Amino acid sequence: MKKAISLAILISAGAIMGTALAQSGGQAAAGVPADVQAVFKNHCVRCHTGSKPPKGLSLIPSKVEAIIDAPSAGVPDLLLINTKDPGSSYLLKKVRGGEGITGKQMPPGKVLPAEDMKVLEAWIAGLK
Ligand code: HEC
Repeated sequence: MKKAISLAILISAGAIMGTALAQSGGQAAAGVPADVQAVFKNHCVRCHTGSKPPKGLSLIPSKVEAIIDAPSAGVPDLLLINTKDPGSSYLLKKVRGGEGITGKQMPPGKVLPAEDMKVLEAWIAGLK
């Protein structure tokens, strides 16, 4: 009897997860996924907003799609988000810090938490 109950729980949990996956897939197709927008909102939009954002880079939800495959201002040879070569994306380089960037690591004076970094990396890798 116990086995039958836990099997039923497993099956319904699977159904719920299936629905959640289908929903998140739908959101991605409609634009920038909610988890990516949340990273920008929590760590970037404080500065990257308004009519004159730093380096012309606004990260409010309605502007994010415009930076996909668009050149950066700091290193114009590099695209902010490079869908063909995700690792070369200038936005990721600015968040990681280190060589190959002009100006500061983003967000200035802080380091983006590793889980947020993963959200950005997975999003860009999935744009191919
Ligand atoms: C405290 C304000 C502030 C915050 C918060 C901030 N930035 Fe910036 N950002 C700047 C300033 C100022 C510049 C221009 C100077 C520089 O490049 O260091 C800049 C430049 C950039 C550039 C270069 C754009 C280009 O085309 O050259 C990128 C990419 C960037 N920021 C991404 C981010 C991301 C992603 C976040 C959040 C994880 C973030 N920034 C958070 C102030 C901020």
